Amino acid sequence: MTTEEFSGATKELEGGDGEFFDEIAARYDLLNRILSLGLDGRWRRRAVQALELSGGEVILDLATGTGDLAIEIAGSRSEITVVGVDPSREMIAVGEDKVRRAGLEDAVTLEFGDGQNLRFDDDHFDHCAIAFGIRNFPDRLQGLREMSRVVRSGGKVAILELSEPRKGVMAGMSRLYVHQVVPRVGALLSGSEQYKYLQESIAAFPPAEEFATMMEEAGLEDVTVHPLTFGVVNLFVGRVGM
Ligand SMILES: C[S@@+](CC[C@H](N)C(=O)[O-])C[C@H]1O[C@@H](n2cnc3c(N)ncnc32)[C@H](O)[C@@H]1O
Repeated sequence: MTTEEFSGATKELEGGDGEFFDEIAARYDLLNRILSLGLDGRWRRRAVQALELSGGEVILDLATGTGDLAIEIAGSRSEITVVGVDPSREMIAVGEDKVRRAGLEDAVTLEFGDGQNLRFDDDHFDHCAIAFGIRNFPDRLQGLREMSRVVRSGGKVAILELSEPRKGVMAGMSRLYVHQVVPRVGALLSGSEQYKYLQESIAAFPPAEEFATMMEEAGLEDVTVHPLTFGVVNLFVGRVGM
C-alpha cells in the first residue's frame, strides 16, 4: 500500500491519535512504565502466553507502537517472525532502534500501516496480537474484521486493553488513579499540557462483554475475557473461525 492509498486513513488518524503518538514517541516507553506502575511488561507477557506459540509461527503485532510486544513475541520462541504495523512513524522509529539493539532485525519488521486496512493477503498470519491499540481505532469492528481476515482459520487473536473496573474493591481506586493521577503525571512526563488522552480513551472503550460480542461479530470464536490486575486490563482471546 502506498502512502497515497493510505491518506484517507492518515487524515482520520491525524484528527485523532496519529499526531499525538508522533509527539510523545520519544517519551512513550517511560510514560508506559511509570503510569502502569511497571506492570505493562507483565500484561504483554500474558498476551504472548495466550498465543501458545511453539516456534516457527508468523505473527502480526497490530498497533505495535515502539515494538515492545513484537520484541516480547520474537524472544519467546525460536524461529518466530513478527510484523508490527502502526500509523505513527515516530513510534516505529523508536521501535526499530529497540529491535536493532535487541539483535532481532531478522525476526521483527515494523512498518507503517492502518489496522483498519491491512495490505496483507487473507490467512497470511498464524496469529495476531494487539496491546493497548484497539481503543485508538476509529472503527474497531473494521479493525477486528481485518485481524480475522489476515489470520488463518484456527489462529488466535489476543487483545490487551485497559479498562475502568466498574465494581469491586479496585474500582474506586482505579478511577481515582486514572482521573486524578494519570493526567497530572502524564502531563509532566510527556510535556503535553493536557494529558487527557489516556482517561478519555479508556472511558470511551466499551464494557468487556460488549467488546467480546464485537469480536464474535468480526468472525472470532471461543472468545474469552481474562481480567488482569483487578480488571484494570482485560485480555481478550478469540480464535478465527473456519
Ligand atoms: C498506546 S500505544 C500501544 C503501543 C504498543 N502496542 C504497546 O504495547 O506499547 C497505541 C498505538 O496504537 C497506534 N494506532 C492508532 N490508531 C491505529 C490504527 N488505526 N491502526 C494501527 N495502529 C493504530 C498508535 O499509533 C500507537 O502507536
